[in-house]
Amino acid sequence: MALTGYQLKPNTKLASGRVRRFALPGKRIRITQITTFCPDIIGPGPTHIYLIETDSLVMFDIGIPTSLAKALFYSWRNQPIPKEVKKLPLDYSEQQLLEGLKIAGYSIDDIDLLIISHGHPDHFLSAHTIFHRKKPKIAAHILDAPEISSPWEMLRQWILLRQQMRGTGMPPPKSTDETLIRAVEGGAMGSSMKMDVPIFRNGPLKIDGSPISGIQTIHLPGHSPGSIGLIVGEEGEERVLLCGDVLLNPITPHPNDLLLYLRSLKELESLNKIALVLPAHQKAMRHLKARVEFLQAHHRRRLRATYEACYEPRCAWDIAIMPRYFDLYVDPLKFNPMAGREALVHMELLRMVEGLCRSHIQTGVHYFRNSGEPFEDVYARIMELVDDKAAKTIMRY
Ligand SMILES: [Fe+2]
Ligand SMILES: [Fe+2]
Repeated sequence: MALTGYQLKPNTKLASGRVRRFALPGKRIRITQITTFCPDIIGPGPTHIYLIETDSLVMFDIGIPTSLAKALFYSWRNQPIPKEVKKLPLDYSEQQLLEGLKIAGYSIDDIDLLIISHGHPDHFLSAHTIFHRKKPKIAAHILDAPEISSPWEMLRQWILLRQQMRGTGMPPPKSTDETLIRAVEGGAMGSSMKMDVPIFRNGPLKIDGSPISGIQTIHLPGHSPGSIGLIVGEEGEERVLLCGDVLLNPITPHPNDLLLYLRSLKELESLNKIALVLPAHQKAMRHLKARVEFLQAHHRRRLRATYEACYEPRCAWDIAIMPRYFDLYVDPLKFNPMAGREALVHMELLRMVEGLCRSHIQTGVHYFRNSGEPFEDVYARIMELVDDKAAKTIMRY
């Protein structure tokens, strides 16, 4: 029987505010999806938060305060804020979450465990602002725990990313991020957050050392080092995969390590009896294997385009601004770390199998040339590396 959802409340503004419920076979477990504001186009779109009712009340992700979504997605990147976003109350997404919980029959104080899919700010920053009277236990994978528990770690990663982007040939950002500095100095990024439940292996999700019925965690690195998914459902029944940002539809997630990401896709391909995939943004997926195959083919195409462009020495920014490399136009004159990093991770994987090697460094920018082999030979080595789990990644995060 197909697992279907039904709507409890429609979207209100900016494709957010909707509340949907999914009843799993056996009827003991229910999942409620609450869609909260996060910018589209410049960002991944509204963040879906999941409430899982089993023997405990578990929340998967909590979203981003609208005040910080405005700062992170627009002000830091020197992008104009659209009028309709500017008008939103600063706590708009938190209000949407509280209302969604009420419709589901709960309050924020009822949550036993908040589990965070990964350490990107659109998934956990509201945890700093939304809990007042009572805080639930908080769980995340240990590899993403540093940025979740500390705003300074997020800032450190941002500074390192900017330095790394200089070597790709990307133009520098327009100005120093005064908004960022003010936000950090003023404490708007939150203070440190205590983590209660470290996740470091696949298996039953636990609270105080006891397994929660019907929820398994699965480590799916590659979008971030500590990305996790939840497999929800009864043993032997059709189950639901909550996948965070590891699989998205129709947009494609950006890997931070393409080797690990392709391995995670393989792992997902091997899962059985997944009737529905519920992501953290955009549309649900009925066919897990078909989405995995689409993403594998997508990265194969991008690896080929990257490889073939390097018959002449190229830097990562040369690749990122090639026509049709991305669906969206990438302005060659604008700082765009998302685009630069996407090209870079494809180059890094090609370098790991010696399909690319550095030809020279000029004014601090690294240029790479391909090996001249047919792309298929290089891709076959990549696939061997994906299959060889003993081969560790050499990417630096
Ligand atoms: Fe993410
Ligand atoms: Fe996200």
